[in-house]
Amino acid sequence: MAVLEAARPDLPYTPAVARATRDLYAKVAHVIPEIEWPAFAPYVDAINRLKTQKNAVILGHNYMTPEIFNCVSDFTGDSLQLAREAARTDAQVIVQAGVHFMAETSKILSPQKTVLIPDLRAGCSLAASITGADVRLLKQKYPGLPVVTYVNTSAEVKAESDVCCTSSNAVAVVEDIARERGSDTVIMIPDEYLAQNVAKKTPVKIITWKGHCEVHERFTAADIRAYREGNPGVVVLAHPECPPDVVAEADFAGSTSAMIGYVGQKRPRRVVMVTECSMSDNVAVEFPDVEFVRPCNLCPHMKRITLAGILNSLQTMTHEVMVDREIAARAKASVERMLAVKMPVQAKAA
Ligand code: 13P
Ligand code: SF4
Repeated sequence: MAVLEAARPDLPYTPAVARATRDLYAKVAHVIPEIEWPAFAPYVDAINRLKTQKNAVILGHNYMTPEIFNCVSDFTGDSLQLAREAARTDAQVIVQAGVHFMAETSKILSPQKTVLIPDLRAGCSLAASITGADVRLLKQKYPGLPVVTYVNTSAEVKAESDVCCTSSNAVAVVEDIARERGSDTVIMIPDEYLAQNVAKKTPVKIITWKGHCEVHERFTAADIRAYREGNPGVVVLAHPECPPDVVAEADFAGSTSAMIGYVGQKRPRRVVMVTECSMSDNVAVEFPDVEFVRPCNLCPHMKRITLAGILNSLQTMTHEVMVDREIAARAKASVERMLAVKMPVQAKAA
């Protein structure tokens, strides 16, 4: 589902723009109707020229709309892959085509770089569910227990934690920190459902928090049964931020990139991705032979990021994401500890 933007009069769809973007359109023609392309192409062209001039990279999360994901992003992926790329890139400017906690993670890992988020309103219900003060209280209540924090949190919350995790490495991280600390229990915050889904895959006991993703909490087990009934033979892939009874009804659960990997390897004839809406569009670009059944929920925060916003961000160098130096240093230790955890092949998905 693309987000249509009216082309600004100073950004006309000229023959030169059509030529410059022809190959990119060929890539997304499967999911963006031809009639819509003139509204996107001038932005795509302007962004791609400007990012070279400014030595900038665009890190695009898998939930970006197809014109952002496929036509202007230099790197795409799940939260873990984008964090790794932020630590690795040589570019001076990082534009985060994702939500605020992702931009903060990039800044924490690359404090000397300019990190921009095109829209400051791109938040996250999980990140909003917990503060640094909440974590300090939890640590008082359960002294000595290691704190594993999902990356979908503020820098302040990461700073209070022992290690971060994403949905792709959560089981491996929980087991690693429990082993290192000699503890049979960890605190895992703030996503209650991710924690419950991880708890099913490890003997480590987990104390959690009542945070939820507003996109994934809306799916129900009855929804999954209805998808199967209405679409015989459909393969159901769910994100581990979904409630455990939804994950139990699915054929596979994993991070956004793990779901893409599943489709690439198994090539199911028909698939439903129980996650944010743009996923199916983006995966359909890569695998046009797969039929995507498309009930989905939009993330209003991810959808704040648009081509016009990205262009404005590069032109005006806004909105620069800053993290307090002392908080950043402590948060960095938690993120880097996560990046150092070795992933057993079978533990790739939470
Ligand atoms: P992943 O891409 O790491 O699976 O995260 C999904 C998500 O909801 C990010 O906000
Ligand atoms: Fe947060 Fe959920 Fe949106 Fe991801 S999809 S940014 S977890 S609200």
